[in-house]
Amino acid sequence: MVPPVPLHAPRALPTTWSPAWSPITVPHEHSLLRGARVGGRADHGRAAPAVGLPRLAGSPRAVEARPARRGLTAPPRVRRSSRCRLVGGVGYVVAVAEVVFRKLDELTDDEVYAAYAPPEPDWLRVNFVASADGAATLEGLSGPLSGAEDKRVFKVLRARCDVLLAGSGTVRAEGYGPLVLSAERMAWRRSQGLPEVPVMAIATRTASLDPASGIFTEAPRRPILICPADLPDSRVEPFREVADVVAVGTGAVDYAAAVAALRERGLRQILCEGGPHVFGDLIAAGLADELDVTISPKLVGAGPMRIAEGAPAEEATPLRLRHVLEAGGNLILRYVRGSSDE
Ligand SMILES: NC(=O)c1ccc[n+]([C@@H]2O[C@H](COP(=O)([O-])OP(=O)(O)OC[C@H]3O[C@@H](n4cnc5c(N)ncnc54)[C@H](OP(=O)(O)O)[C@@H]3O)[C@@H](O)[C@H]2O)c1
Repeated sequence: MVPPVPLHAPRALPTTWSPAWSPITVPHEHSLLRGARVGGRADHGRAAPAVGLPRLAGSPRAVEARPARRGLTAPPRVRRSSRCRLVGGVGYVVAVAEVVFRKLDELTDDEVYAAYAPPEPDWLRVNFVASADGAATLEGLSGPLSGAEDKRVFKVLRARCDVLLAGSGTVRAEGYGPLVLSAERMAWRRSQGLPEVPVMAIATRTASLDPASGIFTEAPRRPILICPADLPDSRVEPFREVADVVAVGTGAVDYAAAVAALRERGLRQILCEGGPHVFGDLIAAGLADELDVTISPKLVGAGPMRIAEGAPAEEATPLRLRHVLEAGGNLILRYVRGSSDE
């Protein structure tokens, strides 16, 4: 029996996988196997335990690195990092202090919900799917890049939010209807003390939308139209009957003011489903706390937008990787704001 590898001496770890690392004992204070705390201590950009991914079989403090297939002898090299403390290779359960690598289909729904527990009560997360070569669309839509695996997380993120924010370009292109959830998702929300469905908020510069469309008229909860304050009233008036109007900014939506207005209404967990121009604006305004992006195993080639477009940001926002879920060749990544070198 090989002695356990202590997690609290990360810099002493070898940078290649070794069978001597299995089994692994994870000290409780470093364990990523604890459940998430919603609204727990602020970890905005700071070190915090990886939230929510579940305990594996066995002792509460032990993780087995178990080979998924025989004959795997040379797993990838592992970068030395204070955040990356114990790593196995592809096909192995991997245990690290903060970054979690799991196969999505090994997780129950409750575990997926837990994996996306927000670290703070006020949180803005953005969800996208992109091809392996960085395209945000295939044939003009996100759907052909997505699949059942990505959709599973997409639906959990929807179920977790207070308000779903989308730009009018996305609403039009993707044909968004009224925001409805399955009976199971609504039951989960009730169990969390949440209203059965989130509110839909649509950002638009020109209000080039149809107020008679289902996204407004069939919505279970009154939607919110977010537009610039100087938009002519003739353009906004038709929406007042079917939506609340948040008018902020001049010539364009002021997203900082829009987010503040949503929070004032108690809509504190914001999920943005894009599109690329809205995301570009959120990055430029420094408002994105989290990016949940699925890398789809496809090469699309040149042409389509990236997941962020529009006005450039003055500086890059550092992100910290919280988990990687693999499913059907998709990499489902959860990044939160903060530097991995902290
Ligand atoms: N891969 C993915 O996960 C994913 C996700 C979402 C969307 N998409 C794709 O992205 C494409 C749409 O991209 P997009 O960038 O045009 O969509 P978008 O960001 O949803 O919407 C752009 C529209 O939002 C409004 N807008 C943007 N910035 C604004 C600002 N600062 N102030 C006020 N309004 C603002 C404008 O509305 P008005 O036109 O009303 O003035 C603009 O036309 C579609 O093909 C869709 O399928 C992909």
